[in-house]
Amino acid sequence: MEQKRIYMDYSATTPVKKEVLDAMMPYLTDYFGNASSFHSFGREAKNALDKAREQVANLIGAKPNEIYFTSGGTESDNWAIKGVAFANKDKGNHIITSKIEHHAILHTCEYLEKHHGFEVTYLDVDSEGKIDLKQLEDAIKDTTILISIMFANNEIGTIQPIKEIGEIAKKHNIVFHTDAVQAAGNINIDVKELDVNLMSMSSHKIYGPKGIGALYVKNGTKLHAHSHGGAQERKRRGGTENLPSIVGYGKAAEIAKSHMSEHIERLTRLRDELINGILDKVPYTKVNGSLEDRLPGNANLRFEFIEGESIILMLDMLGIAVSTGSACASGSLDPSHVLMSIGLLHEEAHGSIRFSIGDFTTQEDIDYVIEKLPGVIERLRSMSPLYNNLVKGK
Ligand SMILES: Cc1ncc(COP(=O)(O)O)c(C=O)c1O
Repeated sequence: MEQKRIYMDYSATTPVKKEVLDAMMPYLTDYFGNASSFHSFGREAKNALDKAREQVANLIGAKPNEIYFTSGGTESDNWAIKGVAFANKDKGNHIITSKIEHHAILHTCEYLEKHHGFEVTYLDVDSEGKIDLKQLEDAIKDTTILISIMFANNEIGTIQPIKEIGEIAKKHNIVFHTDAVQAAGNINIDVKELDVNLMSMSSHKIYGPKGIGALYVKNGTKLHAHSHGGAQERKRRGGTENLPSIVGYGKAAEIAKSHMSEHIERLTRLRDELINGILDKVPYTKVNGSLEDRLPGNANLRFEFIEGESIILMLDMLGIAVSTGSACASGSLDPSHVLMSIGLLHEEAHGSIRFSIGDFTTQEDIDYVIEKLPGVIERLRSMSPLYNNLVKGK
């Protein structure tokens, strides 16, 4: 019998959709021109670039000239934080962020603290992973120039109160950046309704190619250029554009926008079935993160008495691909900074698994995981002295 292959790691990355690939292909061969060239080859490329910019802008209700293509979420985060920090140095040196940001934010902030004299406040989060708005407002100083709080967390899926955070930032005249890498294309976002100045996005989380993303920069936001060179991206990010990938990202954004309600409804239903099915069948299991304000495709659960890594290995043998959290942090033995920040003990953090589902997840996939997981957990627990002593009373 053919081995099953069930992918439940959509938060790490997604496959490229067929329509996206079809849109990209001609831009590798037939329409290979440089968008900065004046001849017809250049014009074709420029038209495709403009179209993709519109498609990405449309995904979040922005104007096309507020979208800057980058190499992905990491670059957008780095650019936003450093670009705002350096452009506003004369006003102050204080940045506010949270303890559960992606490392693209946290390590950039640490770099600014260590090498450029900036001061960073890392806000706590509650047991669901939400920041406290009062704590945010209390942290603001005369020298605060930037607030960066992620839209939705990549490990536990918690969605932050972005509208309220934006209102606070605006009231105090502080630039607000949000890392929406997991959110943009997976939930409804309209920047016109949010006081957000900058927003990071990535294509490979929404069925586009890897290595391409965007930074939304609201017109009028003070930001240093990302790189100096040619006049591309309105002189803010020099370098010949990665047109095939940009076209693919544009198409992926267009599809995401047009399927949004169906995508949210379907994934939320499958996700809740998965969570409830597992909770029903596996004792000593809890959900990490918020049940209400959660990404549609994220289910993060902790299984007492066992290690997440061994669950991953055993599920992998059954053809089920899941993760312990962020793909970027795997390989590290430290418990996840996100799970520690929501108050889990080391062993609870180590026993947590992220199931992230997406557009190609089927009902059969959900049923298969609910069928196979209890046996895996039971086998691993039977090898745990703690479980045997405490639970089985041995
Ligand atoms: C919240 C968040 N920010 C940033 C990134 C980095 O994005 P990219 O892989 O496009 O560099 C990721 C990727 O997992 C993410 O989940």
